[in-house]
Amino acid sequence: TIVILDFGSQYTQLIARRIREFNVFSVVLPCTASLDKIKALSPKGIILSGGPCSVYDADAPAADPAVLAMGAPVLGICYGLQFITHHLGGKVVSAAAREYGHAEVNVVAETPLFTGLPATLNVWMSHGDHAQTLPEGFRLTAETSNAVAGIEDVSRSIYAVQFHPEVAHTREGMELLKNFVIGICGAKADWTPEHFIQSTVERVRAQVGNGHAICGLSGGVDSSVAAVLVAKAIGDRLTCIFVNNGVLRKDEFAKVQTTMREQLGLNVVAVDSSERFLSKLAGVTDPEKKRKVIGNEFIAVFDDEAKKIFDAEKSSGEEVAWLVQGTLYPDVIESSSVHGPSHTIKSHHNVGGLPEDMKLKLIEPLRDLFKDEVRRIGRDLGMPDEIIERQPFPGPGLAVRILGEVTAERVAMLQEADQIVVDEIKKAGLYRKVWQSFAVLLPVKSVGVMGDQRTYANTCAVRAVESEDGMTADWAPLPYEVLRTISSRIVSEVRGINRVVYDITSKPPGTIEWE
Ligand code: XMP
Repeated sequence: TIVILDFGSQYTQLIARRIREFNVFSVVLPCTASLDKIKALSPKGIILSGGPCSVYDADAPAADPAVLAMGAPVLGICYGLQFITHHLGGKVVSAAAREYGHAEVNVVAETPLFTGLPATLNVWMSHGDHAQTLPEGFRLTAETSNAVAGIEDVSRSIYAVQFHPEVAHTREGMELLKNFVIGICGAKADWTPEHFIQSTVERVRAQVGNGHAICGLSGGVDSSVAAVLVAKAIGDRLTCIFVNNGVLRKDEFAKVQTTMREQLGLNVVAVDSSERFLSKLAGVTDPEKKRKVIGNEFIAVFDDEAKKIFDAEKSSGEEVAWLVQGTLYPDVIESSSVHGPSHTIKSHHNVGGLPEDMKLKLIEPLRDLFKDEVRRIGRDLGMPDEIIERQPFPGPGLAVRILGEVTAERVAMLQEADQIVVDEIKKAGLYRKVWQSFAVLLPVKSVGVMGDQRTYANTCAVRAVESEDGMTADWAPLPYEVLRTISSRIVSEVRGINRVVYDITSKPPGTIEWE
């Protein structure tokens, strides 16, 4: 086990995820975890994460300095380096200029941490403070043109870097972490998706006991994998509720039901509430308001259905006490405001907002994972590619892709256009290569000509992005041929659209969705 002590960085779970990529087991604990708790895990190594504070802040997060003397190798990252420096008698100062973004680091000493790495590293920095005087016994291992970038005390097996090896922008980050986890700590690479499945199933089984659970299915990867995992633990004591909110993709309501029941053997209650949702959406144009309306309505419908199941179980002497959610780690941080700079950008209604009076306890088996890891787990669970490879689809569905008011007519129009985009992307063999690809219906009409007729109709934007986790994304350079086919098919097959444009904005500064 590698123990990661979290000082509040938005990248902490990314460290855990990198370590899982080496098939090594890791646990994230708050930095305030007691020494006993840490020792109980017999860690092969300890990683101190970054964090948004300065070691001089009044409420600066701190770990028990005794973790530095436990005997297990330690790697400090960013704030972790400053914490080590500060607590072992060195000096941290506030820098004149913040270092943020790409930086070049020169390796100045041979160290096991940098084995196999080039002499100049391309790294990602994000810090205000830096180490000025090193603690006794430490030496400099790397530097940028104006700050300490790496230090170590090999005799105590304490290593630290000022940059973030866990983010994809640090080119040699994976090798560096591997040098620490496998090389220095000697951790065994024996933790696989099977372990995750097995331990999750056991945990859920123990948690739920003889109880019942309910789960909202969306048809997407996350909720399906969560449901299959839980069903593996408690069988048909899990009931899945699938709601048609009126803004699903074309034919999705029927297709998802078939797959879930017939291929995955899940116990599914399907509720068609499209009219109810669309009438609540009438006249709403503000994106966050749309999310709220759909979120609230979803909870109301879900609540009704859950109550029915609840009452039925109760009359047979059982109780539904658990709610399964397919929350992933990026949902957690994009929706929380406590993680420093990653404050709420858009509200994600699939986090929070439970039917409160039911006092359901939450099971979130995927809460620490990233999308591609969930796909790996789904594959290991034997789920069909059609679900595993599905691109993410937002909870508020097509409503946030119809700019302006959402009406049944506009939903139908977008469903057709969306279907064409997905079809063509699949035909071109690009569906798995891009993170998301979809159409957006704009509240813009323009003039066109079809046959001999002048047209005055809607504009549709096509969006395709490449991304690792949805947190940052690049617009996808789709081949012109693919764009050409998409455009001509949409204009000729979808009534009401006479112009197609391609969105060439990356995230940041854009977001993936238009609303
Ligand atoms: P943005 O547009 O914020 O999207 O760059 C990042 C990822 O999140 C998805 N997304 C949502 N998912 N409820 C969801 O469940 C939402 O309200 C929501 N808004 C955006 C988006 O599709 C992308 O994958």
